[in-house]
Amino acid sequence: MKPPRDYFDLLDAIHRITVPRTYVEIGVASGKSLSLALPGTTMVGIDPAANIRHPFSGTLHVFQGTSDDFFAAGTLRHILGGLPVDVAFIDGLHHFDAVLRDLRNLEEASSEDSVILIHDCVPPENQIASRERETRLWTGDVWKAIIGLRQYRPDLTISVVDVPPTGVAIVTGLRPRSRVLFERYDEICATLAPLSLPDSTAALRALLGVTPFDLAALQSQLRSHPFRAEPVGHLLRRRRVRRLSPAYLEWQLRRAVRYSPVGRRVFSLRYSALFPVGKAGSPPKSSGLD
Ligand SMILES: C[S@@+](CC[C@H](N)C(=O)[O-])C[C@H]1O[C@@H](n2cnc3c(N)ncnc32)[C@H](O)[C@@H]1O
Repeated sequence: MKPPRDYFDLLDAIHRITVPRTYVEIGVASGKSLSLALPGTTMVGIDPAANIRHPFSGTLHVFQGTSDDFFAAGTLRHILGGLPVDVAFIDGLHHFDAVLRDLRNLEEASSEDSVILIHDCVPPENQIASRERETRLWTGDVWKAIIGLRQYRPDLTISVVDVPPTGVAIVTGLRPRSRVLFERYDEICATLAPLSLPDSTAALRALLGVTPFDLAALQSQLRSHPFRAEPVGHLLRRRRVRRLSPAYLEWQLRRAVRYSPVGRRVFSLRYSALFPVGKAGSPPKSSGLD
C-alpha cells in the first residue's frame, strides 16, 4: 500500500483494512469522502447542507441537519439495523466543542472495536485555525479537541497522522459506556476554550503528538480482522464499476493533475504564496499550554 497522498487516501485505506458493516460521516458536503465506502456498507451521512453529487456504494441514509439534531433524534441504532457504528468520520462543524459532542455521541453507538476519525486537527498554518471561518482551507479549532481527549480520556488510543492537507486523528479503544465526555463536558470546554495556538507549527505538532503515516502502526491500532468477511479485492472491483457522475470524474481528474510532478510543484508554490511564513495573522504569542 502506497503512503496516503491526502486524507482521502487514508480513509480509503481504513475502509480496505476494516471493511466496515456500518459507516457514519458527519459533514458529507458533496459526498467525496463518502464515495470511498465499500459496496455493502450501511452508511449514514449527516450535514445541514448535504448535496451528494458523487457516486456511492452501499445503502446511504442522509440526514439533512446538524449532528446535534441528528443524535438528539436517537435514531442511529435503528437506522443501522441494531449494529454499532464500525467506522465514523467527523468532518462537520470545525469547532472543538462540536467535535467533542460528535465523538461522545458516536462512541456511545460504537463497539470497543470501532474506529472514529477526526479530520482537520493539524492546521498547517495558524491563519486557517481561527474559530470563525476566514479562509477557504479552514480547520477551525478542532486541534483543541485532541488536547482535551488526551487529557480527559487517557484510556483512548489516539494517533494523529500527518496526512495533507490538515491531518487526521485515529481514535480507537472506545468505551461506549464511558460518561466522561457527557458528565465533564462543560469543565472540558472551559479548560480548552482559552487555549491559543502555540507560536510555531512545529510546537503545535509536538503538542498534538503528530506522527508520519506508518502502515504497520495503523494496522496494529486497528482490529486484527475486518468487520466483514467478503474479499476486499471483490469489493474494490464492484466499487470501480459503479456509475460515475460528472462531479466525480472532474474530482478524479483534478487529483491526477494535483499529484502529478508538475501539479505538486505548482501547488507548493501556490501554497507558500497563500500562507507566507511569519506574515500577518499570526496567533497570539502565548499558547497557554507551555
Ligand atoms: C469540509 S465539509 C465536508 C467534506 C467531506 N467530508 C469530504 O471530505 O468530501 C464540512 C461539511 O460540514 C457541514 N457541517 C457544518 N456544520 C455541521 C453540523 N453542525 N453538523 C453536521 N455537518 C455540519 C457543512 O455543511 C459542510 O458540508
